[in-house]
Amino acid sequence: MLLGKTKSIQWRITSILFATLGVTAAVIAIAAAGAAVGFWVWPPQPSSALGVSCGLIGGAIVFFEMAILPRKWFRGKRLGRTRAWMKWHIWMGLICLPIILIHAGFGFGGPLTTTTLVLFLAVTASGIWGLVMQQWLPQKMLAEIPGETVAVQINRLGDYHAIEAARLIDSLVTVPPEAETAEPMITGALAAELVGFRDEAVLPYLRLGNRSNSALAAQAEAEQRFARLRESVPPAARPALDRLEELVSLRRRWDSQARINFWLHNWLLLHLPLSVAMTGLMILHAVRALKYW
Ligand code: HEM
Repeated sequence: MLLGKTKSIQWRITSILFATLGVTAAVIAIAAAGAAVGFWVWPPQPSSALGVSCGLIGGAIVFFEMAILPRKWFRGKRLGRTRAWMKWHIWMGLICLPIILIHAGFGFGGPLTTTTLVLFLAVTASGIWGLVMQQWLPQKMLAEIPGETVAVQINRLGDYHAIEAARLIDSLVTVPPEAETAEPMITGALAAELVGFRDEAVLPYLRLGNRSNSALAAQAEAEQRFARLRESVPPAARPALDRLEELVSLRRRWDSQARINFWLHNWLLLHLPLSVAMTGLMILHAVRALKYW
């Protein structure tokens, strides 16, 4: 998004962190240099010429940052390309940080300004965090999860697969009414072990995934248990076990996908409401400050 698609993930994440530090240090250095040649006083004061100018520029940038919302609501209209908007949103967000720090005189002030500044820092931090997640997770999702499915369908499909799994084990340890033999394919202790494995490990895992606390959530453990069972059953029963293992590994991939989706989007639950709250407080602060200036 910010840095091109061809570079490695580590490179892009490191660049985001360096860009944050670099932009912050550069803007503060320019302001300090301006003070050194006598343009303004240093350290900055919120009500000095430099402080008020930074406040006005920072406020304008915040309004620009918030303009990403109407841009999203009217996606169909010709309001510029999404990529360009995101690029500007990110760079202006980064530049805004040192400008606001200078405006605040590197302090917090009273309760209203402290709350506004803390919210601003939280919005910036969540934005940077989200950007890092966006570099890393989509690729991880593509690499790890070939059989993508929609998160809301995972539990319904899990129930469906649990029914299939129950039938598969039944077909090994019981005799179907239409069969001509009297004996099931698997009997005795092994049949009991299979039924126990089905009821205690496979079915809960297929229905509930990680929430079931089943040992099958760990891939290595699941592979080991299936390998052991495959060796103990007659060859004719192995395809049923193969299918069972396939269902279990599908569930594991879906859970992993749901987890990635959660991390890909959860930061917006901070970024969006905090940015709205911060903008509201910022307007209140600006109106009050200009009234008493
Ligand atoms: C360095 C600072 C910032 C970064 C890196 C950043 C990053 C992002 C990113 C990556 C999105 C994603 C949108 C998407 O994928 O759809 C976003 C959305 C947004 N950002 Fe920022 N942001 C920053 C600062 C700010 C600031 C200062 C504000 C407001 C004052 C702000 C307000 C918003 C809003 C309102 C959205 C739209 C939320 C939504 O999608 O519903 N951001 N930001």
